[in-house]
Amino acid sequence: MPTTDDPIATFEAWLAEAATSEPSDPNAVCLATATPEGLPSARMVLLKGVDERGFVFYTNLESRKGGELARNPHAALCFHWKTLARSVRVEGPVELVSEEEADSYYASRARTSRLGAWASKQSRPLESRFALEKAVAEYGLRYAIGEIPRPAHWSGFRVLPKRVELWRDMPFRLHERRVFHREGKGWRMETLYP
Ligand SMILES: Cc1cc2nc3c(=O)[nH]c(=O)nc-3n(C[C@H](O)[C@H](O)[C@H](O)COP(=O)(O)O)c2cc1C
Repeated sequence: MPTTDDPIATFEAWLAEAATSEPSDPNAVCLATATPEGLPSARMVLLKGVDERGFVFYTNLESRKGGELARNPHAALCFHWKTLARSVRVEGPVELVSEEEADSYYASRARTSRLGAWASKQSRPLESRFALEKAVAEYGLRYAIGEIPRPAHWSGFRVLPKRVELWRDMPFRLHERRVFHREGKGWRMETLYP
């Protein structure tokens, strides 16, 4: 196991390990957002990119999470890999990814997923399953020929990590907690009681 002073490098190593041991979706992560008044909400998303800049996921900007992030651009992420008995927490402000980055990821998605991004009014009331399937079929006809453009309401957010916690299970619940605080271009590490 790498013991590095760079939590992003350790996260990447842990994620690669989880990819070999988790039965599904090693990149699944709980994303917490909040209203400007501080009322929290949480849901799962899939991590689609990580580097020194931060942690990227994609979504509908008009969804509940999209609305909350527009008004209060701060988020927290919590990964948990049961097979590794490890968890990672990330906190920080968010920014939208570039148009080019969003276009490139959108283009890599399956055709029906691209149509789904058009058809789903994510987080708003759905009158029937049929209405959703009809919308997917209608967009399928509209974009039967040529490329499917990325909807303006669909893009990615990057969580810019200010605090990253690497948590490892240890016997008798005496777990290891290493917290990294962003300081300039580097990190300051401290350990916490479990
Ligand atoms: C494992 C898993 C992965 C998911 N990945 C995403 C994702 O990457 N993007 C997304 O918008 N929703 C994803 N969802 C659906 C969300 O959890 C959620 O239902 C949806 O985004 C609406 O959330 P909101 O109403 O809080 O905006 C995923 C759900 C699960 C269970």
